[in-house]
Amino acid sequence: MTLLVTGGCGFIGTNFIRLHVSERRERIVNLDKLTYAGNRRNLEDLPESLHVLVEGDVADGELLKRVFSEYKPRALVHLAAESHVDRSILGPGEFVRSNIVGAFTLLEAARGYYEGLTPPERESFRFLSVSTDEVFGSLGPEDPPFTEESPYAPNSPYSASKAAADHLVRAYHKTYGLPVIVTNCSNNYGPYQFPEKLIPLVILNALNLKKLPVYGDGRQIRDWLHVSDHCRALSLALEKGRPGESYNVGGGAESANIDTVRILCELLDEKRPEPAVESRASLIEHVRDRPGHDRRYAVDCRKIERELGYRPLVRFKDGLSSAVDWYLDNPRWVESVVSGEYRNWNRRNYGESYE
Ligand code: NAD
Ligand code: TYD
Repeated sequence: MTLLVTGGCGFIGTNFIRLHVSERRERIVNLDKLTYAGNRRNLEDLPESLHVLVEGDVADGELLKRVFSEYKPRALVHLAAESHVDRSILGPGEFVRSNIVGAFTLLEAARGYYEGLTPPERESFRFLSVSTDEVFGSLGPEDPPFTEESPYAPNSPYSASKAAADHLVRAYHKTYGLPVIVTNCSNNYGPYQFPEKLIPLVILNALNLKKLPVYGDGRQIRDWLHVSDHCRALSLALEKGRPGESYNVGGGAESANIDTVRILCELLDEKRPEPAVESRASLIEHVRDRPGHDRRYAVDCRKIERELGYRPLVRFKDGLSSAVDWYLDNPRWVESVVSGEYRNWNRRNYGESYE
């Protein structure tokens, strides 16, 4: 049996493939374009019998046809996307191409493949599309968390591109009967996350005594989900989810950015005491707010809990502590991703003092 995964060399893909291979010993074919966010070394230690990397673009229809006919996957998990809100603000075009045209091209290829399957193969085929809670827009402080019924109201080019993909996925179920499942998860954190996102950025900057950029007042709230909990939820959705349904996945850990940054500073002060600064919290700098910045995300996961038995297991502080340990223990990985491209990005987004 073979499972097709797209974007498997990124943060969530790497964690998902590692979990899947260790639990199920099933071969993964991983189609990844290896953008700045994809790292082939993340999975290099897996044997070829369990992991095949195909370097390519989900928006390349001819390549997709070849991959489907050569590897005959029993199902697929679609993760490939441009994933960073700030990059979508400075360059939305790539988000439309990879996230919308890419999803469409993959749906078309999957539809052609699905139509050629035998009835029992069709019965078990699944197209699991991994999306975000950001498609629902922004919550006020007293609003109830997002449910699967919340209206779509994306505010950034990133979330708009993910919303467009979700709509296409839904339409392929309603129109063509493709057995799709969508998951909408909250902010992930954990090992292998590219250090452009808040948590690894703060860990690495604080470790190196660089400034810690907090957008605006820092009171924006995110519902943090440890990537290991998310990957368990993805496995449940893939194996037991109902076609045509969407499932919200959250971590049950709402935290304001400034509080998250302060916890990380305390953890680093404890784990790597630094006589040059009394506390890393003194490195915090409030910088210009992100345009269209969503104030609060929170996810109601009662549906996936009720139907599939999912519950987040990692407590936020424990997850942050283990994430800090992972970045401290893996300096070679950090060096390999902090390339010239990364320094250019920091200069573009934060200005020269953050290079
Ligand atoms: P990531 O940026 O770490 O990795 C994305 C991967 O996709 C990379 O390996 C990259 O090379 C690959 N990729 C990008 N464009 C591609 C293309 N056109 N063709 C083939 N491969 C391509 O992202 P992530 O954090 O691992 O997120 C994975 C998925 O989960 C995305 O769809 C994202 O929208 C979604 N998601 C992420 C989060 C989060 O907190 N990280 C939260 C909600 C949803
Ligand atoms: P991020 O990790 O980019 O995820 P998302 O924008 O998808 O939620 O950002 C998490 C929160 O942290 C978000 O409210 C923006 C904020 N943030 C900062 O305050 N400073 C930063 O340098 C970054 C990257 C994010």
